[in-house]
Amino acid sequence: MLIAMAGLPGAGKSSVAGALGRKLAAPVVSVDPIEAAMWRAGVARDQPTGLAAYVVAEAVADGVLGMGQTVIVDAVNAVEAARGQWRSLAARHGVPAVFIEVVCSDPLVHRRRLENRSRGIEGFAEPTWEAVQRLREGFASWADHRLVLDTVTDLSSNVATASGFLSAKA
Ligand SMILES: Nc1ncnc2c1ncn2[C@@H]1O[C@H](COP(=O)(O)OP(=O)(O)O)[C@@H](O)[C@H]1O
Ligand SMILES: [Mg+2]
Repeated sequence: MLIAMAGLPGAGKSSVAGALGRKLAAPVVSVDPIEAAMWRAGVARDQPTGLAAYVVAEAVADGVLGMGQTVIVDAVNAVEAARGQWRSLAARHGVPAVFIEVVCSDPLVHRRRLENRSRGIEGFAEPTWEAVQRLREGFASWADHRLVLDTVTDLSSNVATASGFLSAKA
């Protein structure tokens, strides 16, 4: 299956994706390190590297699904165009697309995590809390069924919840 994460920066997507990927032995394809790699390679910042990173992630995920393996896509997926991209890719492979939205319902905790994390992605400028609020305003409401995980809950409980949800979908 194709598992697509969604949620604002700092909500906890990559943490959940990583833990779930280890549990399922499934590769995680994250858009942020792909975009940072483009910048390191000399692609200018004014180029549409954000969109390009989604397209590259799709190509990588396509290859994984082509080998008959589950893939986890780790991206904000704020808009319907992005979400539709994963639905189409899964449909081309005849596998389910499952969305896991990650939220942090406590704004103080969310902000602290955003501002205190250090991801070590060379060349990647971290978004500010203000930028995350702007993204929140542009975050499209959902039409399709999804699992929502709140990261005020501990990681292992959320991974267990996600595993149960995925078992029902497989
Ligand atoms: N229960 C939790 N679930 C997920 N992340 C958590 C949790 N508790 C603390 N964090 C921390 O929150 C920060 C942001 O998480 P991250 O996965 O990088 O978010 P995102 O990928 O959505 O931007 C990280 O430093 C992570 O370790
Ligand atoms: Mg992340």
